Formats: sequence, structure tokens, C-alpha cells
Amino acid sequence: MSVPEVIADPAAWQASCLAAREHGARIALVPTMGALHEGHLSLFREARRRADEGGRKGLALATIFVNPTQFAPGEDLSRYPRDLEGDLARCAAAGIDRVLAPDRPDRIFGAGHQTWVTVERTSEGLCGASRPGHFRGVATVVAKLLLTTGPCRAYFGEKDAQQLAIVRRLVRDLFIPAEIVPCPTVREPDGLAMSSRNRRLSPEYRAAAGCLFLALAEAAELAKGGERDAATLVAAMAREIGGTPEARLDYAAVVDEEAFAEVRSIDRPARALVAARFGDVRLIDNLALPMP
Ligand code: PAJ
Repeated sequence: MSVPEVIADPAAWQASCLAAREHGARIALVPTMGALHEGHLSLFREARRRADEGGRKGLALATIFVNPTQFAPGEDLSRYPRDLEGDLARCAAAGIDRVLAPDRPDRIFGAGHQTWVTVERTSEGLCGASRPGHFRGVATVVAKLLLTTGPCRAYFGEKDAQQLAIVRRLVRDLFIPAEIVPCPTVREPDGLAMSSRNRRLSPEYRAAAGCLFLALAEAAELAKGGERDAATLVAAMAREIGGTPEARLDYAAVVDEEAFAEVRSIDRPARALVAARFGDVRLIDNLALPMP
């Protein structure tokens, strides 16, 4: 298990990626905010596996940067878990070759920064409604990371389905020549989606957080049984989460996979989504709905 090379300066990172590409290396990129768990590691392993496909050794790269521009004032930026040393050991174990880990936010957003990327419609509802400015921060940092790295493929989790839809739109709209590869959500045994924020839950809130997956599973069960009315699924999810005293529901919704817009009827590939607060920790999750 070799230790990945750690680079703090994006200019040095860009030079090293450029040199690798000039030598014909295929680059796979996994952007993260650190506090790495099995969900992130599943992306790393997939990036490693695909980078080496066809017998050619590629580069599997990760970034670890808690991006301040995607946290609204009053959100959990200062409390976001950080563990660079542990993260680097996890990167090494998963076969990551190099890590961009800026040691200060101004390495990425310097004093002169004034260019922002807004993916308009897809950023508006759901998490965009309760976290104003969040997706502008995400889209801008993802654009910067893709452009400074130049990967053939970049890996994103379905756990953050709206973010994934926004990143897909962004690379299409800006002609960024990278394939966006979606990866399935990794869950705890009770179904709770793994998240860096889970470690901030008290034991009571942790136990209650299982209601998110129960709500999604119930929606999927209804859809499997032939229910096509989105409002019925939304009501069932809201009832499940609303019946959990420790949870404060933010939203329950059903969107169409392609446009990521809320639907009335499940007559095309669709996804159920939920968001709720457990104390001061906000969690999200989603599940693809079975088609008839
Ligand atoms: P972060 O929350 O660290 O997540 C990094 C990547 O891991 C994202 O693509 C996310 O969807 C994926 N991921 C998180 N939990 C997962 C799980 N349980 N199963 C599968 N994949 C999971 O998402 C971000 O960081 C940031 O917004 C970022 C894209 C890095 C921009 O700052």
C-alpha cells in the first residue's frame, strides 16, 4: 500500500496532471470534502478499477477540500468533520495515487475570485430551496476541479442525486470533456445512507435517522405495487418521517430522473427523495423507483 502524493497548491496539481496526460495517462477523479467513509471509498475503488482497464495503468486521483462557498451562513462549515491524516491512509488503502488537499480555502477561492457557475433550473428546488447558494458553490468548485485536473472520468455518488444531476448538466453545458460516472449509494445495515455528517448524530438521533430509508423503501414498495400517483408516495414518505419525533421533515418529493423536476405521475424513470433535520444535522437520501 503506497502513500498517495499530497499536493496543496492547485497550480502544482494542474502541472502534475498535465504532465501525466502528456505521458498518455488516463485520469480518473473523485472530488470529496474528506471525513471519508465507505461511500467515498466505493467511488475510489471504482475509479481505480476503471483507470486500469484494458491493461493500461491510469491515475486514480482524489480531492479533499471542504468548500466554504457551498455552505450558507449559519450552516455547519465550522463543524464539518475533518481528519486529513486518517483520510490519506484511507486513500492509500483504496489505491488513490495523488490527492489535492488545499491547506487553505484561498488556494481555491483566492481574493480576486469572481467567476461563478450557476446551473439554473436543476438548482432551484429541493436542497436548492432550503440551502440558498449551495449549488452555485458546488457547481463552481466542481468546474474548477474538473478543469484543473482534466480527467477522462469523474465519479459522483447517487446519494447526492440533485448534485449529480447538476454536475451532469454542467459538463454538458460547458462542453467539459469528462464522463460523469454515477455510483450507487452505500448504506449502513439499517439502510441509513453513509454520510460524513452521520458522525455528528447523537445515539438517539442516529437511531431515528433510519426513518429516511424506511420512508424511501415504502415509496418504492408502493410504486412496485402499481401506485403511479406521486402525491400518494410523497404523503406516505412524509407520514413515515413525520411520525418520527426526533425528525423534522424538510422535503419529500418524487422527480423525473432526466429533468430532475417534480412529477405528478410515475410514468417514466423517477426517483423518490427526502431531507430531514435531526437536531442540527441535516440528512438527505433518495431511491430510484421501480417501473411497472
Ligand atoms: P462529499 O459529501 O464528501 O461527497 C463526495 C462524493 O461522495 C460525492 O459524489 C457523494 O455523492 C459521494 N458519496 C457520499 N456519500 C456516499 C454514499 N453513502 N454512497 C455513495 N457515494 C457517496 O459531495 C461533496 O462532497 C461535495 O459537494 C463535492 C462534490 C466534493 C464538491 O465540494
